[in-house]
Amino acid sequence: RGAPPTVVVIFGASGDLTARKLIPAVYNLGLDNLLPTDFHLVGYGRKEIPDEAFRSLAADSVREFSRRALSDEVWERIAANTTYVAGAYDDLAAFDRLARHLEGIERQVGRDVQVLFYISTPPSVFAPILENLGAVGLAQKHLGQPHHTKVIIEKPFGRDLASAQSLNTTVRSVFEEHQVYRIDHYLGKETVQDLLVQRFSNAIFEPLWNRNYIDSVQITVAEEGGVGTRGGYYEQSGALRDMIQNHTMQLLALTAMEPPVSLDAEAMRDEKVKLLKAIQPLRLGPGGDVARAQYAAGMLGGQPIKGYLDEGGIAPDSSTETYAALRLSINNWRWQGVPFYLRSGKRLARRVSEIAINFKKPPGTLFAGSEQFNLAGNTLAFQIQPDEGLSLVLNAKIPGLQTRMQPVKMSFRYATTFGSNTPEAYERLVLDAMVGDGTLFIRGDEAETSWRLCTPLLEDWAASGREGMDSYPSGGWGPPSADALLAQNGHHWRQP
Ligand code: BG6
Repeated sequence: RGAPPTVVVIFGASGDLTARKLIPAVYNLGLDNLLPTDFHLVGYGRKEIPDEAFRSLAADSVREFSRRALSDEVWERIAANTTYVAGAYDDLAAFDRLARHLEGIERQVGRDVQVLFYISTPPSVFAPILENLGAVGLAQKHLGQPHHTKVIIEKPFGRDLASAQSLNTTVRSVFEEHQVYRIDHYLGKETVQDLLVQRFSNAIFEPLWNRNYIDSVQITVAEEGGVGTRGGYYEQSGALRDMIQNHTMQLLALTAMEPPVSLDAEAMRDEKVKLLKAIQPLRLGPGGDVARAQYAAGMLGGQPIKGYLDEGGIAPDSSTETYAALRLSINNWRWQGVPFYLRSGKRLARRVSEIAINFKKPPGTLFAGSEQFNLAGNTLAFQIQPDEGLSLVLNAKIPGLQTRMQPVKMSFRYATTFGSNTPEAYERLVLDAMVGDGTLFIRGDEAETSWRLCTPLLEDWAASGREGMDSYPSGGWGPPSADALLAQNGHHWRQP
């Protein structure tokens, strides 16, 4: 997949994401020979950093965060075309300087160059950046070439429906939708794409993929880590905004959507939006569809862990949830009556993301009289990370003269079959944006649809303060209220 000559401009060039993910992604694309021949990288940020110092910071981040070692030869090629422009995000004159800098690069390349802006800043400056790009003419035209620019926008895309709509309005006043790549890095994960391949390239799943055979679905995105140094950001966010509205909802959409007519960006996103629109409004309040909690002190990996309220940058009476669980009903022909349970939290027992499809139990009459009657419903689990793979729980006979049975697991592990050198999400996504493939990005209406579902809940929580806030020990599997949520339907959470 060849990209045309490209300049990637990173806004937020001295930020954490740039060092941890973006520079290593560019480097790994270079290592795999996937960067265009004329590739330039421009860092933009508020700090004054000389080009040479920026290159050396970038090299450090490759050394520290890349999944593969720094090859001098590959890095030299990238570094030779790496520059830095200092400026504020609301300073029109600085954007003018950026425009001239880009013209200089284009003259050097000697032919038309596409520009991919990557907005990786705090969300408060998304709008000024977009507006300034528009104001200096960098959005629609570059040296007279229409639509030769693209923009990747990092999360969070808004913090509720109104702010997402307003951001979309700003985006659309400057760019056309096909130029816009709203990122959800979960879509770049290898196993998330494999979910589509498994679902739609194996004939055995699709006939069973509906309310006639599936009892319930559980989607878990569990993290061991706490808020770490991101307390300031996290206090304003919480599990629902940080993980559920985007990553977890995307996993749900891919699991439950109808087969798209093609893998084309519009076809895929049409199906995801259709599915998201079929989700019923959440029932709020006691006995409703949601649970929220904060982590309390506990033990993880043999280490004592502080509770959320004792972390740096957190208000002692904070009402930000570090765990959220939802029960969703999808009101369409395929899924009516099948509960979809979503949960995500920090400081849980271990880092694991999975999608578990629980099938209905067979009639079982045949074995009802056997000595150990322990018939489990089949479960198909997609393990997204870590230890990526797929497993199927089946009932099997325990060898012996009696008829006793027990659930057994059939597993496929990525690392065993394919080795463990899979590309990181950001590598795939940066490459996709360079070649103009929006399939794994979020369309504007999709972001809004997901916020439309979450916003009444956010408002309800904001109005209730700490009332109804549960807690769970760090290192556990979440709060009692989340267990109670499933118990209402006679279900329980799977231990991944
Ligand atoms: C980010 C969230 O989007 O995803 C973080 O802001 C979270 O809070 C991270 O830790 C998890 O991503 P991954 O790829 O490590 O599962």
